[in-house]
Amino acid sequence: MGEKKRIGILTSGGDCAGLNAAIRAVVYRAIGTYDWDVLGIMRSTQGLLQQPPEVKQLTLADTDCLLSRGGTILGTTNKGNPFAFPMPDGSVADRTEAIIAAYHGLGLDALIGIGGDGSLAILRHIAQQGGIKLVAIPKTIDNDLGSTERSIGFDSAVNIATEALDRLHFTAASHSRVMILEVMGRDAGHIAICAGISGGADVIVIPEINYSIDTICNSIQALKAKGRNFAIVVVAEAVCTESGEKITQTHALSQCRLGGVGQYLADHISAKTGAETRVTVLGHVQRGGMPSPLDRLIATAFGVAAVDLIAEDRCDRMVSWQHRQVVSVPIESAIAHYQAVDPQGTLVKTARAMGICLGDEANSPAIPSTVPDQFNVAMV
Ligand code: F6P
Repeated sequence: MGEKKRIGILTSGGDCAGLNAAIRAVVYRAIGTYDWDVLGIMRSTQGLLQQPPEVKQLTLADTDCLLSRGGTILGTTNKGNPFAFPMPDGSVADRTEAIIAAYHGLGLDALIGIGGDGSLAILRHIAQQGGIKLVAIPKTIDNDLGSTERSIGFDSAVNIATEALDRLHFTAASHSRVMILEVMGRDAGHIAICAGISGGADVIVIPEINYSIDTICNSIQALKAKGRNFAIVVVAEAVCTESGEKITQTHALSQCRLGGVGQYLADHISAKTGAETRVTVLGHVQRGGMPSPLDRLIATAFGVAAVDLIAEDRCDRMVSWQHRQVVSVPIESAIAHYQAVDPQGTLVKTARAMGICLGDEANSPAIPSTVPDQFNVAMV
């Protein structure tokens, strides 16, 4: 065993379930196996910009009860890009050098960064510029990071969205309604397609497949023709209007965020079919709460593997889940290969085979001539 190391760990970008499980594994492996020191850096790179840096020495005692805890004990941020950091006087400044100086000032030998594509691109840039030995652990409920089949947080988010669909079935059937569930996914439809298949949705709308409102409405009418009195639609928040505009909401502090495509679809479905619709926007419920067993497992395996990479002096790499194994890949390739839902892939094929409408014409049902053009308000 080499000389005693001191490593840093931070979480960056949006939080998700399973981050604490990864922190726990890193601390356990680094201290328990290698007898290293582990410093937790608070609120991602923002902790390194404080005077003195906001850090916490992590001990084995800190790992108690961490496996199932939601969020991140280190805090995180998806704002304050260090290359254009908002300063108190209203200007923006590149704070890269300050972050690098703080890192080296702490006497760190390596850094474990847990993040999605945006955070890992930023961390890698800083690491390259500052001679920082960086190892990455992938996390994002969106599951759109390249070179890994799974990222921490995705499975928990799919579980929550699936449970929401299960619940919506009963109320939809009771009231003869079309229920629309809007799920997260800033750019990709992974949560929507996985939860949609698992939760028995009738229609799944994802940004990777162009849709038409008419096709969606036809499929809902075809269900009615077969005797179904309700329908379940799941849509990813990143889906645009039929003519291609992003749907966003401007909130306090002038923040513009995705949101509203569920209501957009609901209004059009009601107008075209006469069906009564209701919309549920699942939002941050998908990120909060206890991690699923699979996320705990992946996070634990990733945490152990990340520490081992440092021990082997194999840095600038990201741990990755491939074919039931943890392997490692260059961080550069993970952030370069964005992973959208494959329109030709197994999930899309499965959905089509199960008669799920994906909004395009691929398996658009023929509507029997006996079905009225419009639904009454109550679909009975
Ligand atoms: O990238 C993860 C994610 O949860 C997206 O699915 C979502 O669009 C976004 O973050 C929400 O970010 P915020 O927490 O800033 O609202």
